[in-house]
Amino acid sequence: MTPPHFAPLREKVVLITGAGGGLGRTFAIGFAAQGAKVGCLDISEQGLAGTVSDIAKAGGVAIPVLADISDEVSVEKGFAEVVEKFGGVDVLVNNAGIATTPMRLHEMSLADWDRLMAVNLRGAFLCLREALPLMQKKRGGSIVNIASIAGLRGYFPGFSILGGNYSASKGALVALTRQVAIEYAAENIRCNAIAPGFIEDTDLGRERRAATSPGMTSAFEREMSVRVPLGRRGKPDELVELAIYLAGAQSSYVTGQIIAADGGWLAA
Ligand SMILES: NC(=O)c1ccc[n+]([C@@H]2O[C@H](COP(=O)([O-])OP(=O)(O)OC[C@H]3O[C@@H](n4cnc5c(N)ncnc54)[C@H](O)[C@@H]3O)[C@@H](O)[C@H]2O)c1
Repeated sequence: MTPPHFAPLREKVVLITGAGGGLGRTFAIGFAAQGAKVGCLDISEQGLAGTVSDIAKAGGVAIPVLADISDEVSVEKGFAEVVEKFGGVDVLVNNAGIATTPMRLHEMSLADWDRLMAVNLRGAFLCLREALPLMQKKRGGSIVNIASIAGLRGYFPGFSILGGNYSASKGALVALTRQVAIEYAAENIRCNAIAPGFIEDTDLGRERRAATSPGMTSAFEREMSVRVPLGRRGKPDELVELAIYLAGAQSSYVTGQIIAADGGWLAA
C-alpha cells in the first residue's frame, strides 16, 4: 500500500469506532491507505479480525481494539490500548452506531430507547471524553462524527424505517458536533460531522429487516430509488474521501460543519 504523495494523515493515529464492519471498516481501510496508523475499535471480535487482516494484507498499519463504546470502563481501556501502541490519538472517527427495530414512538419500549441512546449518544460522548485530552496533549486534533440525515430532517412515508430514538440520537450528535467545535477551537481541535443518507451494504438495518415483511422492505427500496434525487443509495466507498478530508489538514479551516452525503435528499 503506497501512500499518495500528498498524505497529511501519514503517521497520524486515527481511532475509528465501529471499524469491525459497514462504514467503519471502509473508513479504516481508507485511512490506512493514506498511511495512518489505525486503531480499529469494535464490539465484534470477528469483525475486527476481518478489518485488521484486510489492512495488513494491503500493507497498512492497524490494531484491533475490542471494546463496547456504551461502557465507560471498556472505552477507557480501549483508548489506553491505542495510546500504549501508538502514543496518542490525532483523529477520532466517532462512527459506531445502531438502529433498533423501527417503531412508532408511542409503541417504542424504554429498553429500545435506552439501548440505542447508550451506543449512539453515550458512546460518542465517552469516546470524545477520552480523545479530547489526548488531542490537547498533542496541541491539536480532528474529530469526525458520523451523524445522519435523520438528525436533520424527519421522514415518515407511511411506515417508519428508523425510530424516533435514532433520529433523536443523531440530532443530538449534530448539536454535540457544533458544541465541541466551538468549545475546543482555541485548542486547535476541530470537530465536524458527516450526515450520510441511505447507504447500502452495511448492517445498520439488520433489526428492521428482521422485523418487517419482505413486501415492506421492497416498498422501502422502491421508495429510495424514487425519493433520492440521484436515484440510488450511496455506497460506503463514497464517504471515505469526505471523512479523510475532514480528518486531515486539507480542511484546516473547517470546523463545526455537518456535511451531508445523501444523493441530494436534504436538498429536495
Ligand atoms: N448505513 C447507513 O445508511 C447510514 C446512514 C446514516 C448514518 N449511518 C451511521 O453510520 C454509522 C455506521 O453504521 P453502519 O451502517 O456501518 O452500520 P453497521 O451495523 O454495518 O456497523 C456498525 C459497527 O458498529 C459496531 N458496534 C455496534 N455497537 C457497538 C458498541 N456498543 N461498541 C463498539 N462497536 C459497536 C458493530 O459491531 C459494527 O461493526 C452509524 O453511526 C450509523 O448510524 C449509517
